Amino acid sequence: MRQYALITGATSGIGRELTYEFAKNQHDIVIVGRNEDKLQALEHELLSKYNVDVKSIRVDLLEKNAVEQIKEQLRKWKIVISFLVNNAGFNEVGEFAKTDIAKELDMIQLHIVFTTELTKLLLIEMQERKYGKILNICSTGSYIPCPYNVVYAATKSYLLSFSKALDIELKGSGITVTAISPGAVKTSFAEKANLEEALLFKIGVMEAKKVAQVAYRDLMKGKSTHIIGLYNKLLVIFTKILPKKVVQMASKKMMNVE
Ligand SMILES: NC(=O)c1ccc[n+]([C@@H]2O[C@H](COP(=O)([O-])OP(=O)(O)OC[C@H]3O[C@@H](n4cnc5c(N)ncnc54)[C@H](OP(=O)(O)O)[C@@H]3O)[C@@H](O)[C@H]2O)c1
Repeated sequence: MRQYALITGATSGIGRELTYEFAKNQHDIVIVGRNEDKLQALEHELLSKYNVDVKSIRVDLLEKNAVEQIKEQLRKWKIVISFLVNNAGFNEVGEFAKTDIAKELDMIQLHIVFTTELTKLLLIEMQERKYGKILNICSTGSYIPCPYNVVYAATKSYLLSFSKALDIELKGSGITVTAISPGAVKTSFAEKANLEEALLFKIGVMEAKKVAQVAYRDLMKGKSTHIIGLYNKLLVIFTKILPKKVVQMASKKMMNVE
């Protein structure tokens, strides 16, 4: 049976680089995104460059029945997923009292509700075959309080906690759960969140390709967690030990908050 990887948010940034990693390593792929043109372009690129099967599902993952739509399409194709990458995400930055609550609720829906539901759906099938690997894209914000980015970091903390516990629950089952945590990565993520000029995206910024390579390797090894990059590891340690006032001031600078 063919082993497919399903990648959410595959049309851009880390997700797109991950599709290349899977394709290079001869896995068949289901790419999931909401932009038809970008999906088609990526599908054609992958089909022409690599000797793998590529299918795409166009769905806005904020739609209430997004998981149902994915389930139905996989059922029609008779495709079973061996590798799940929960990657789609976005950010909303600023003082909590002033940020857009609609965007924050969407973030909770995408990062937490949708991801939890999709993982359960595909995990049940993986359990039937006693094989599967799940990759969750977390963040350094999963480990530390992030003032001026409180909802984003809280959703990523949920994802880290969910991943770590599920990985232990599944020990010996043939299924692993890997949570990787990058810091700033050069993708369209910063631009979409109005963070391009923020200090956070000026220091220690990693290439999406590098992050995807490390993530793919960790996933295949069944590594549980990984904060990617020395700078990000140090950032997490120092944020935990520095006085609150210093963390508040530094966060303001990092996030470009007035
Ligand atoms: N870049 C960083 O600094 C950084 C750091 C730590 C963690 N991360 C995490 O890494 C993951 C990937 O982000 P990235 O940096 O690669 O950003 P990106 O280039 O903006 O890619 C995000 C992907 O998610 C998709 N997406 C967002 N909302 C969606 C929705 N409602 N329905 C369908 N697809 C949706 C986007 O589609 P569209 O193109 O259609 O918007 C895009 O394909 C995210 O979970 C992010 O939180 C990023």
